[in-house]
Amino acid sequence: MATSQPDEFPRVKSGIPGFDEMVDGGFHRGTVNTITGPSGSGKTVFASQYIYYGADIGEKGMIITPSETAEFLKREMRSSFGWDLSDLEKQGKLSIVDVTDPVLRLQKSIEVDPVEFLINFRKMVERKLQDFKPQRLFIDDLTALFLSVESPFKVRSLVDDLFGSLRTSGTTSVITIGTAFGMNQYLEYGADSATILNRERIGNSLIRSIFIMKMRGSKITNSIRVLDISDDGLSISNLSPYP
Ligand SMILES: Nc1ncnc2c1ncn2[C@@H]1O[C@H](COP(=O)(O)OP(=O)(O)OP(=O)(O)O)[C@@H](O)[C@H]1O
Ligand SMILES: [Mg+2]
Repeated sequence: MATSQPDEFPRVKSGIPGFDEMVDGGFHRGTVNTITGPSGSGKTVFASQYIYYGADIGEKGMIITPSETAEFLKREMRSSFGWDLSDLEKQGKLSIVDVTDPVLRLQKSIEVDPVEFLINFRKMVERKLQDFKPQRLFIDDLTALFLSVESPFKVRSLVDDLFGSLRTSGTTSVITIGTAFGMNQYLEYGADSATILNRERIGNSLIRSIFIMKMRGSKITNSIRVLDISDDGLSISNLSPYP
């Protein structure tokens, strides 16, 4: 069997049991990786676990929350899995950027031109990455920010600019995106890897599933796997949802 190539691209471990095996060792360092799925499929848990695991092994993380407040995310992770994000912040292992914070003056409203908003958002992200220098970045649900940009051409170039800045910073990014309104295709197209989460109906029950749509420059598993969420977080079984 062919062995993996030497470390042309060093790998970053996801912290999700079972995931790294599906992508030949983890995310490539310095890349942009999307996690797409419908509501409740596990996107936020996946990316939070990526950050939480990183902090545990000494890799600094940053979380940017464009669509919900940082407080809400912290409460959710504490009550679901006992992950204390505030404590990581206090220890300097994590920085959470709340886009809804008025201090950033990034308030989104229908009066603000969406393209201008996205340019300001990118500049703000660049500044934050430069200041904190995280090894891991998680942006929760980028879809909403791009929805009000009408021209697909502009969406493409704004996505390219943002992802370009993320790569230049050297951080390894995990970005969650919702499937509503078809915005996901632009974001997945611009990303270095795309992972899809879903719920499959098998008989009378709903089973969560995961597959890798692409990872540039890497072998990937072609099978769909079962995704479990428990008190310990998210893990991937080597079973397929289909018997
Ligand atoms: N301890 C737990 N055990 C099992 N399931 C849990 C546990 N904690 C949370 N969950 C479930 O995990 C799911 C979390 O999904 P998550 O918030 O990551 O979805 P999402 O894809 O980000 O959705 P959205 O698009 O709405 O933000 C919830 O449906 C929740 O019920
Ligand atoms: Mg979510």
